Amino acid sequence: MCGIFGFVGKRQDAGVVVIEGLKNLEYRGYDSWGVACKTEEGIVIRKDVGKISTVDSSQFTKKCSLAMAHTRWATHGGVTPENAHPHVSCDGNIVVVLNGIIENYETLREELKSKGHVFVSTTDTEVIPHLIEEEMKSEPDFAAAVRRACLRFQGRYGIVAMHADSSLLVAARTGSPLIIGVGKDGFYIASDTPAFLEHTRTVQYLDDGEMAVTDGKSILFSTIETGAEITKREIAITWSVEQAHKGEFDHFMLKEIMEQKESITRAVNQDEEQIRTLAEAINNAKGTFLVGCGTAAKACMAAEYFFSVIAQKHVNFAPASEFKLYHHFLRPESLLIVISQSGETADVLEAMHIAKSKGAKVLAIVNVEGSTIDREADYSLLINAGPERAVASTKALTGQMAVLILIAYALAGRLPEGRKLLLETAAKINDMLNPRYVDFLEGITEKIQEREHLFIIGKSWHYPMALESAIKIQEVSYVHAEGFAGGELKHGPIALIEEGTPCITLVGNDEVRADILSNTIELKARGGFIIGIAPERHEVFDEWIKVPEAGAAQPIVNIIPVQVLAYFLAVKRGKDPDMPRNLAKSVTVK
Ligand code: M6R
Repeated sequence: MCGIFGFVGKRQDAGVVVIEGLKNLEYRGYDSWGVACKTEEGIVIRKDVGKISTVDSSQFTKKCSLAMAHTRWATHGGVTPENAHPHVSCDGNIVVVLNGIIENYETLREELKSKGHVFVSTTDTEVIPHLIEEEMKSEPDFAAAVRRACLRFQGRYGIVAMHADSSLLVAARTGSPLIIGVGKDGFYIASDTPAFLEHTRTVQYLDDGEMAVTDGKSILFSTIETGAEITKREIAITWSVEQAHKGEFDHFMLKEIMEQKESITRAVNQDEEQIRTLAEAINNAKGTFLVGCGTAAKACMAAEYFFSVIAQKHVNFAPASEFKLYHHFLRPESLLIVISQSGETADVLEAMHIAKSKGAKVLAIVNVEGSTIDREADYSLLINAGPERAVASTKALTGQMAVLILIAYALAGRLPEGRKLLLETAAKINDMLNPRYVDFLEGITEKIQEREHLFIIGKSWHYPMALESAIKIQEVSYVHAEGFAGGELKHGPIALIEEGTPCITLVGNDEVRADILSNTIELKARGGFIIGIAPERHEVFDEWIKVPEAGAAQPIVNIIPVQVLAYFLAVKRGKDPDMPRNLAKSVTVK
C-alpha cells in the first residue's frame, strides 16, 4: 500500500527525481499524492487527490537536493487533499510520509491535543510529526527525536521524515518495507526498487525495528530500540529499468500477460539440487501447510491438487489471513510454504511469524528478491517473473504454479519429467499467445461485455483456477464474476443461470473431463452461454477457446485466456486495468 520515495544528495533536481520515481510506484496506491522539497525558501509542500501519473514534475524544478514524495492508499481518513501526505508539525518544520498504520494514533492524538497540538487531517499519520515535535522539546537532535517517537508507535509502519533546519532524511521501519538505493550522487529511500532503478541498482534493506539516517554523503543504520549502530551489506539487484516499463503496450497488465511466454521458462529454470532438497523437506515434514493471499492463495490451493495427483502427497492449504487458527497443528517438525509475488503481504508475514514461533520451518516462493518474506524465510525460491506492476497478478501466478508443479514432480522422484513438461508447455504458450489469438479473445469479450454476471467452473486443479478467473475478472472489469467447483452447481449456484448468462468452463484432457463436461451441459440446459477453454472442441461450447494440451500443466495454460478476457473486459468497459478502484498492488496492512 502507499508508495514512498525520498532522495538526499548532490543532485539539485530532487523534486523532479522523487515525483518521476514515484510514478513507478503508483501501483502501491493511487488515491492521492504529495511532495515535499527543501529549497532555499524553506520546505515547499504540494499535495492533492488523484493519480501521481497526472502530475507534471516540471513545477518542481526549484534547486533542491532533499525531497520526498508519497502516493496514498487511504486507510484512516477519506481521500481529501488534507489527508494526503506529507503531514507536518504545528510549526511546519517537521515533515513526514507514512506507509502503514499507527494503531494507537487515537491515544497519541488526544495526548498531543492536550499539549496544544492542532490537527488538520483525520489521518493516523499526522500524529507522527507532532510527536516528533514534542520529543524535540527535550531531545533537540532530529534523528534522535524520530527514534524516540517511533518507540511509542504501535502498528506496522515505514516512515520517512525531514526537518526544515536539517539536511537529513530519516527513515524508520517496523512492518512496512523501506529500501535504500545507494547512488553515486546520494541516497534514495523507497518502498520498492522500481522507484530508483534508473539511478542505482545497489541497495541496502532496512529490516523491522531499524532506522537509517543520511545526509546524502553517508548513511548510518541503527536499531530503533536502543539506537545501537548496525552495519548493512550492499546488494546488487538484477531487475532492469526496461523490465519495469510498459514499452509498446497500452497497459502493464497486457504486457505482463504476454511476458508469460518467457517468464514461465525462467521460473522452471531452478537449481535442480535445491528443488530436490525442498521436496525432501516436504517429505520429512510432519504436516505441510501452504498459505498465500488472493491470487497467490489460488496457487497454493492448486498445489494441493498437484501434490496429490502427481506425488500422492497430502498438504494443507489455508488463506494466509485464516492461518492463525491453524496454530494448534504446528510443531517444530511442521513446514509452512508461503507464496507471495511482492514478498511483503502482511497476512503472509503474520503466518510466517506464527509458524516460526512454533519452531516450524518456512519455505517462501516469491517474485521480489530481497523482499521481507524472501529475507525472513528459512528457504526461499525466486520465480524470476520480473517486475509485476499491474495490480492484477498474472505472470506471477503462472510462475508460482510452474515452481509448485516442479516440486510435485521432484516429490514423486520424477523431476526431469516435470521440467520437460513445463518447458514444452512454455513453448506452446509462446505459440498460443500470437496476435491473431489475442484478437480472437478480444472478439469473444465483445459478445459478453454488457453482461453484469459471469460464472466460471472447473474441477480438480481447474477449481482453484475457476476461483482465480473470478478474481481476475472482478478486480479489473468490476463484472460480478464467481468461480465454482463444477460439481457444486446443482447444490445452489445453478439458480443464478439465466438465458445468455456467460459461463466459462475450464476443461483438460484429464480424469475429470467427463464430469466437468456434464456440469457444463447442466449450465447450457439452463440457458448459459458457454465459453469452453479446452484442448478439444465439444458440442456444448458456444465459443471454443482452443488451448494446447499440457497434462499436469493444463491449469497454467487454461488460465491465460481468462487473463486476456479479463483485460479486454476492463478496457471495453472503460476501466483502467492497471489501477482498479479500491485496490493496491502490495497489501502491507492486515
Ligand atoms: O504480493 P502477493 O502475491 O502476496 O499478493 C497477494 C494478493 O494481494 C494478490 O494476489 C491480489 O489478490 C491480486 N490483486 C490478484 O490479482
